[in-house]
Amino acid sequence: MKKLLQIQQMIYNRSDFKILDQKVNNKPLIYFDNGATTQKPQVVIDAITHYYETINSNIHRGVHSLSQIATEQFEAARRSVQNYINAKHTHEVIFTRGTTESINLIASSFGREFLNPGDEVLISEMEHHANIVPWQMICEQKGAKLRVIPFDENGVLQIELLDQLITSKTKIVAITHISNVLGTINPIKLIIDKAHSKGIPVMIDGAQAVSHEKVDVQALDCDFYCFSGHKMYAPMGIGVMYGKEEWLNKMPPYQGGGEMISQVTFEKTTYNELPFKFEAGTPSVGDVIGLQKAIEYIQSIGVEKIAEYEHQLLHYAMQKLEQIPGIQFYGVSPQKVAVISFNLGTLHPYDVGFLLDQMGIAVRTGHHCAQPIMQKFQIPGTIRASFALYNTKEEIDFFIEALHKAKMMLE
Ligand code: ALA
Repeated sequence: MKKLLQIQQMIYNRSDFKILDQKVNNKPLIYFDNGATTQKPQVVIDAITHYYETINSNIHRGVHSLSQIATEQFEAARRSVQNYINAKHTHEVIFTRGTTESINLIASSFGREFLNPGDEVLISEMEHHANIVPWQMICEQKGAKLRVIPFDENGVLQIELLDQLITSKTKIVAITHISNVLGTINPIKLIIDKAHSKGIPVMIDGAQAVSHEKVDVQALDCDFYCFSGHKMYAPMGIGVMYGKEEWLNKMPPYQGGGEMISQVTFEKTTYNELPFKFEAGTPSVGDVIGLQKAIEYIQSIGVEKIAEYEHQLLHYAMQKLEQIPGIQFYGVSPQKVAVISFNLGTLHPYDVGFLLDQMGIAVRTGHHCAQPIMQKFQIPGTIRASFALYNTKEEIDFFIEALHKAKMMLE
C-alpha cells in the first residue's frame, strides 16, 4: 500500500471539491457515484460564476464587446477540447448537450445520409441505452438492422466474432470505449483498424473514458468520438461530438435554427460551414467555459496520473471486496477502470443502496441504463461503486465496513 499513499499525496486535492466536505444523513459524505457524474472543482464553479457575473452575452452575432469576449472564450474552449483529444482541426469539435445528444446527432445525420434498407449497424452487448436506442430508431426508419457483438462471462467483448459480424452490409460500428457497468476498457483501436480494413467508419462512446484514459482521436483514427462534460469534472448539459472533417462535410445538419445557416429564404436554406452547421441555436456558453476549466484542471494533474491513482483504488477495493462472503462481481476484465458492479448474494441492490445512503455513502443501484447487460446476467440490477481522483483508501475502508453492516441487517 506504500505506492498508493505516495500517489495519493501527489494528486489528491480534496479541498478543491467543497461538496465532499459535508454530512449526508449525519455521516461524512462518501461519493462513489462518479460513473453517473463527477463533482466539480472550485475553479470550474468559479469560471461559470465569473462568466455570468461579467461576460454573459450571446456569441458570434454581436458587435458589442461582451459578445466578442464571450465568442473568444467559447472558441478558445473549442481549441482546448481539440488539444485535449488531439483532433486535427478545431472545426471537428462540435459542442452538444452531452454524449446522448452527440450519439443522437450522429445516428440521425449519418443514418439519414448513409443507411439504406438491409444495411446493418454494429454495436456491442455492453452499450449504454444512449448507444442503442438512437441506432434502433434510425434503423427502424431506414429499414436497417442492428447487430450486436456479445461479451463473455467476465465482461470481455468477444472480438473474435468481429469477422463474422462485420459484413458487406455493415455501414457503421458504434462501440463504447469503457462500459459504465462493467468498467471494461474495450480494444477500440483493434476494432477501428478491423472496421477500417473493410472501409467501415467507427463511432466511439467515450462518456466513461475521457477523464480516466488518455484519448487521442488521431492515433485511434476513430471517425467519431462522443463524450460529456459532467463525467469529467465539468458542468452538466455540455458535451462534445468529435467527427472527422470528411464525414462531417458529407453529413446533413441535425437540427435547424440559428447559427447553422448560411442563408435562409422561404424557398431554400443553405448551411453554415463546420463546426456551426451542427450547432443550431444558442449554445451553453458558460458551460463550455466550465468544460475548458475542467480540462485545464485534469491537465494540471495529468490524466495518466489520475488513471494510475484510480487503478490503485480499484485494486485496493477489489482485494477487500473479494473477502465478503457471497459477493458476486459483474465485469472482471483485466482491462478495467475503477467501476465495480456487484451484488451481495440474493440481497436486492436497492435495499443495500438505501442502507449505504443512510451511512453517508452514495453508490448507484439498478440497471445503470444498460438493461441488456442485466438481461445477460439475469439480474434486476447491481450495486455500482465508481471512483474518481478525490476518492481515498480510507473511504474504501469505511465502505467495506458499511457493506458488512448492511449485509448483517438485511440477511
Ligand atoms: N450513464 C450514467 C451512469 O452510468 C448515468 O450512471
